[in-house]
Amino acid sequence: MPQFNDTELTEAVIRSFDNTPDPRAKFLLQELVKSLHDYVRKTDLTFAEWEYAIDFLTRTGQKCTPVRQEFILLSDVMGVSMLVDAVNHRERDGATETTVLGPFYVGEHKAMPHGADISPRLKGEPMFVQSRVTDLAGKPLSSVPVDVWHADNEGFYDSQKSDYETHGPSSRARFITDADGRFFFRTILPCSYPIPTDGPVGEMIIQTRRHPMRPAHVHFLVNAPGYEPLITHVFIDGDKYLDSDVVFGVKNELVAKIEQRTDAAMPDGKPAGGPWHLMTYEFRMKPGKGDAPKPMAAKVTEDA
Ligand code: BEZ
Ligand code: FE
Repeated sequence: MPQFNDTELTEAVIRSFDNTPDPRAKFLLQELVKSLHDYVRKTDLTFAEWEYAIDFLTRTGQKCTPVRQEFILLSDVMGVSMLVDAVNHRERDGATETTVLGPFYVGEHKAMPHGADISPRLKGEPMFVQSRVTDLAGKPLSSVPVDVWHADNEGFYDSQKSDYETHGPSSRARFITDADGRFFFRTILPCSYPIPTDGPVGEMIIQTRRHPMRPAHVHFLVNAPGYEPLITHVFIDGDKYLDSDVVFGVKNELVAKIEQRTDAAMPDGKPAGGPWHLMTYEFRMKPGKGDAPKPMAAKVTEDA
């Protein structure tokens, strides 16, 4: 009957995974054991704290549904999502920086014509977005699907609203780049918003006196064949939460100055009907491959 002191116990648990057939799985599990055991030793974790952690993780799992992923939210607020993003995108070679996908990519993206208003039922300040997709040398990439989505001017995504089933997508669409790599659309200026705080992750944020806010941004998912899928946001310069994003997703290069305009026509020549904002941003794609992420609901359906 082996008996272990606390260091020998760690070694024994690590050895217990020695026969794992997949070498990568073996490495990941053995490193996880090392880090978890170090944490317990370093903190002298009490039974009450261990029970609290088990209960917290249990409630995190119970809060998950096909369209809500509380574990990803936990990963986001602990900075793990951005760290995974960082270690997987170390060499950008001039390509646009990446950031978190977030939980509101729900795969309802319907292709719309350039210039379309993607927020026709929403109150808010009009914004025209003009953009271009190129390779690292600045050569335009045509026929590239670009998914865009953002919150409304009260900080909610369409999928969080009770009328989503009846009204369908809003502030959410797909555009296909033209021969010059360009796409453009009308929408409203999004505002900063809190991550969902009605679950254990929000409870932790509130109890630890952090704020739950994300600075205003528009999400872009650019998926060009032969290039790494680009998952990113463009943040609105001047937002008061740019320095303290609850999910640590801001990068300087992703902050865009939004111009305030009073011209009678928007860049596509159609009437503006009052003051408006202009967002201009170019995306540079890195050669490579990889699958674009699937929305949470699609993953559940496929795996079932
Ligand atoms: C978002 O930007 O949509 C988001 C990202 C991470 C957590 C919550 C929301
Ligand atoms: Fe967002």
